[in-house]
Amino acid sequence: MIEIPHIVAHRGASIEAPENTIAAFRVAGARGAKWIECDVTLSSDDKCVLIHDETLERTTNGTGPIHQSDLASLRTLDAGGWFSDIYKGERIPTLSDTLETLYYMEMGANLEIKPSGCDPVRLCHEVIAELERARDLPILISSFDDIAVAEMRKHAPEIPCGWLLETLPKDWKAEYARLGASAIHIDHAALTPVSAAEIVDAGVPLVCYTINDVERAKELFSWGVTSVITDDPAKLLTAIPRRPFAAHR
Ligand code: G3P
Ligand code: MG
Repeated sequence: MIEIPHIVAHRGASIEAPENTIAAFRVAGARGAKWIECDVTLSSDDKCVLIHDETLERTTNGTGPIHQSDLASLRTLDAGGWFSDIYKGERIPTLSDTLETLYYMEMGANLEIKPSGCDPVRLCHEVIAELERARDLPILISSFDDIAVAEMRKHAPEIPCGWLLETLPKDWKAEYARLGASAIHIDHAALTPVSAAEIVDAGVPLVCYTINDVERAKELFSWGVTSVITDDPAKLLTAIPRRPFAAHR
C-alpha cells in the first residue's frame, strides 16, 4: 500500500481556485500539498474528464448532463469564470492532462471514480487504461459505487482502491473484506472515536472528508485517522505541517 499523505487537497485547493481544474491542482502543489483528490467521469465519447457534478451548470458555462457532451465540446467550456475572473478560460481537464501535471509537480492523487450517469464498468476500464501510462504516480482510487470498486479490484488489483462511504455500515468488516478494498474513506461527521478506533485497530487506513477546520483535523488525527481531505490545504498544512505523532498507533 502506498503512503497516503496526512493532508489531501479536495478537488485541488478548491477554496482558492476552481475545483477539479489544473489551476486548483497547481495551487495545491504550491501550498505544499503532496496529493490532490479529484472526481473522474466519462464524456459521451468515453474520454475520462474531471468534474464533480452530473451536470455542467454549477462549475462551467455549459448546460446539461456531462455524459451527453463529447470531449471536443466540453473542452470549449469555461470551467473557471464561475469561481473568479482571474480563472476565466480554465478548462475541464482530462484525466490525461491531470496525470501529466501531477507527474511534473511530483504529486499523487486520490482519484474518485464518479460514474453518476455513465457506465461504471466502462469508466473503470478507461481509467485503468490511462493509469497504465502513469505507473510511477502514487494513485489511490476510491468510489461510492460498489460496482466500480469491485471492477477496479478485479481488473487492476495492483492499484489500491478505497471504499468511499457516507456512513459506516454495522457489518463494515465483512463488506470491506468482500470488496478487497485497501482503505476506508468516510465523511468525518459519521465517525466517532470508537468507530475510528475499530477501523484503525483493524489496520485499515482511514481517510476522512471534508475538513476545513484545524481543530477538527487535529481531533481526527488524535483518533488515528490516516489522512484528511480538505478544500483548504494551505490552512491545514500551515497548522499541521507533519502527520501528528498520535496518528502512528
Ligand atoms: O473523496 C472524498 C469526497 O470528495 C467525496 O465526496 O461529493 O466531494 O466527491 P464528493
Ligand atoms: Mg470527490
